[in-house]
This record gives sequence, C-alpha cells and structure tokens, in this order.
Amino acid sequence: MTIRIESFTGKNGEPYLQELAKLRIEVFREYPYLYEGSLVYEKEYLKSFLDTDGVILVVAFDGDEVVGVSTGMPLIAQLKPVQQPWLDNKEDVSRIFYLSESVLKKTFRGRGIGVQFFEAREAWAIQQGFAGATFCGVVRPTNDPWRPMNWVPLDQFWLNRGYLRKDNYLCHMHWQMVYEREETEKTLQFWFKELLPSPSSVAL
Ligand SMILES: CC(C)(COP(=O)(O)OP(=O)(O)OC[C@H]1O[C@@H](n2cnc3c(N)ncnc32)[C@H](O)[C@@H]1OP(=O)(O)O)[C@@H](O)C(=O)NCCC(=O)NCCS
Repeated sequence: MTIRIESFTGKNGEPYLQELAKLRIEVFREYPYLYEGSLVYEKEYLKSFLDTDGVILVVAFDGDEVVGVSTGMPLIAQLKPVQQPWLDNKEDVSRIFYLSESVLKKTFRGRGIGVQFFEAREAWAIQQGFAGATFCGVVRPTNDPWRPMNWVPLDQFWLNRGYLRKDNYLCHMHWQMVYEREETEKTLQFWFKELLPSPSSVAL
C-alpha cells in the first residue's frame, strides 16, 4: 500500500469536496459522532469551502483512491456559534485558524496519516500568519451506553500534537444521531495550540 498525502488550498480543493462528504458520512457514523448522514446537510456544509479564503484540504490517497481528508479554514469564516466562545472571551478571532475535521477510513488508521493531517494544516496556518489553531470535539457522557468497549478517546492524540483543552470554551451544533428521529443540539469542546513561527522565519 502506497499512501500519498497532498494539500490543496483555496479552489484547488474543490475536486475533493464530494469525497469529503462521503467520508464524513461514513466516518462520522461511528462513535462518538453517530451522525446519521444527510446529503442535504452535507451540501450546505460543503458550500462553506467554496468561497472562503484560506481553506485547506489535506487528502490521503491510496493509489487513486481517496482514503482520508482533513480540512481547515480561518475561524473568522466559520459560523457565528463556532466563533462565539472566542468572541465572548474577547479573543482576536482573525488570528486563529480552525481545524474543521479529519476523516480517515478505518483500515488506514494508526500509520501516521492523522499526524500528517495536523502538520500540513498547521504549516499552512503558520504560512498564512495565524497565531493559533483550534478545533472542537463532541462531548459525550462518560457512562454513555453507545460507547463501544474498545473505544479510545482522541484526547491523548491531541495532547501529543500540542493541543490543550480550553476550559469553558464550548459550542453547540445540531445533527441527527443514528438513534434519533430528528436533529438535536450537541455540545462540543474546544482545544487550542499556539502556533509559533519557525526560528528561520523570525527576522533578526
Ligand atoms: C483522528 C484520525 C484522523 C487519526 O488518524 P490516524 O492516522 O489513525 O492517526 P496517526 O496514525 O497519525 O496517529 C495515531 C498514533 O499512531 C502513531 N503512529 C502510528 N504509526 C505511525 C507512523 N507510521 N508514523 C508516525 N506515527 C505513527 C502516531 O504517532 C500517533 O501516536 P501519538 O499520538 O502517540 O504520537 C482517525 O482516527 C479518524 O479518522 N478518526 C475518526 C474521525 C474522528 O474522530 N476525527 C477527529 C475529529 S474531526
């Protein structure tokens, strides 16, 4: 298996948006998102990638097949509920890059692709002059009956990438879970990392 990772910025990412939608529906059906995929929702969601400056799609290929996609965009381009906790805390949202998602087919996990997804998006954010990067993950109860026995939370993976949980920075999104009849509100927790420019790019 030969895996290739390529980054596409701005409009260059458009050819991969359909693959992103397919992977979101496939991967987010798993715990903890349990997302009952909807093409109508996906179509709306993908629109945000079409006309936004500063977007990046990092795509993992196995030969010609897309097996994973990871995305990011300036936080300021995100919907208001995503920006809100930052605005409430008087943070400069124009300096923060938002890591929207990483979706990788199950059989390709644990080979370092997820790490590369972070590295590529952070490098892009630094190049664009952002001072920090953030993302949010869904909050599920610890005694959740839907939690698979062997499920490992991604917290340690994120800590290893240098992200810290931002206490009290929460946002709310709506989607339908596989066991729900309609969309309900979900709470998501933000994580954050300062992005420092590499020493070689600092003027002496
Ligand atoms: C999150 C996700 C993208 C991670 O991808 P992944 O490719 O399995 O992650 P990696 O293999 O890069 O990293 C996992 C660990 O394996 C290690 N690893 C395994 N093989 C490796 C290799 N060949 N090279 C480098 N690191 C390797 C990594 O270092 C990392 O360990 P660490 O945190 O101790 O450093 C993937 O699990 C996924 O799609 N999950 C479902 C969707 C999801 O929850 N997305 C996140 C929210 S949007």
